[in-house]
Amino acid sequence: MPQDHAPSPPRGASPATLADPPEAAFDWIDEACAERHRAGLVRTLRPRPADSPLLDLASNDYLGLARHPEVTRGAAEAAHRWGAGATGSRLVTGSTELHARLERELAAFCGFEAALVLSSGYAANLAAVTALTAHGTLVVSDAGNHASLIDGCRLSRARTAVVPHAAPAAVRTALTGHDGRALVVTDAVFSVDGDAAPLPALAEVCRAHGAGLLVDDAHGLGVLGDGGRGALAAAGLAGRGDVVATVTLSKSLGSQGGAVLGPARVIEHLVNTARTFIFDTGLAPAAVGGALAALRLLAREPRRAARAREVGAELHRRLAAAGLAVVRPDAAVVSVRAPSPGQALRWAADCRRAGLAVGCFRPPSVPDGISRLRLTARADLTPAQLDTAVDVIVATAPTP
Ligand SMILES: Cc1ncc(COP(=O)(O)O)c(C=O)c1O
Repeated sequence: MPQDHAPSPPRGASPATLADPPEAAFDWIDEACAERHRAGLVRTLRPRPADSPLLDLASNDYLGLARHPEVTRGAAEAAHRWGAGATGSRLVTGSTELHARLERELAAFCGFEAALVLSSGYAANLAAVTALTAHGTLVVSDAGNHASLIDGCRLSRARTAVVPHAAPAAVRTALTGHDGRALVVTDAVFSVDGDAAPLPALAEVCRAHGAGLLVDDAHGLGVLGDGGRGALAAAGLAGRGDVVATVTLSKSLGSQGGAVLGPARVIEHLVNTARTFIFDTGLAPAAVGGALAALRLLAREPRRAARAREVGAELHRRLAAAGLAVVRPDAAVVSVRAPSPGQALRWAADCRRAGLAVGCFRPPSVPDGISRLRLTARADLTPAQLDTAVDVIVATAPTP
């Protein structure tokens, strides 16, 4: 979910003074909480049962692989063979042969020279941005980027220029006149509206200015490109010396973890310098085994990627025909605009009561203040499930 690139403002009441009794230290939280209630922006956890009866259009399980028997078997066998945890950081005891196998196969599948697996996509983005920048580097970051890229910018010692969304001309302007290292960072598919970044144009601008291009392909892997090889493969940019990608193993691959893909020298640099790689316990073997099984399944069944795109296009067509403000998806994220945060919340709750789980994006998780329902175009939805989903969303839509 994108956010503003500025550091978070202090929340709630003014800081405690020395005169306050010590147990009042967190009283300011109550005021922050009341403020969230007033704005209709409270978030709560809703643990789901293993056998939830809801039709799921809220998860990121684009290909329906999280519970696929081959994938869960891959995870279970890895846990039995290698242990429940990785036992240490990757540079100490946390690298198993299974991690190395996943890195080789993931790099080969996506068309990159090398890969490095980390404990999450979030950690992968922090690793890539911080390791590829230094004091004096200019980072040019799309205003719609995911929070993890934004936090990478915040953590890096580089200067960040935030440019308007999907605007290669603005990237060119930001790079013009900068004398020194530069890195352009963008999501491949933006998580709020499901639109794709103009990767070929961005790559051209980067090349003209000698800048590196870092692309977060969290929503492209498994959905875009030939057989789901990702947005970089689709754009003919995979394997280029000036292009680095990050992916998550937690969406299309139905597992957990993240990875950085790129030239071998970039990966070797990350192994030696990326703090979220070095100072973090290696990814649990079960997650590695699950991701590897999913990757092999996807390589064997490439139709799954195209099917996710078809479901996305079909959802868009039918919801737009019903008069809803739905954005044309470039991958498997379908975004439907709601009139207000409160109505978005009620809409999602009404869908839930009718048996359909949908995502709900509200400020501050949206860069433009517009609240939305977020739907996942899962490749494994049956035609009957698609009908049900469309009927429920349309029937529960807020009246203008
Ligand atoms: C665009 C994007 N990048 C990175 C991430 C983080 O990946 P992970 O959940 O594996 O930490 C997400 C997941 O929410 C995402 O949507």
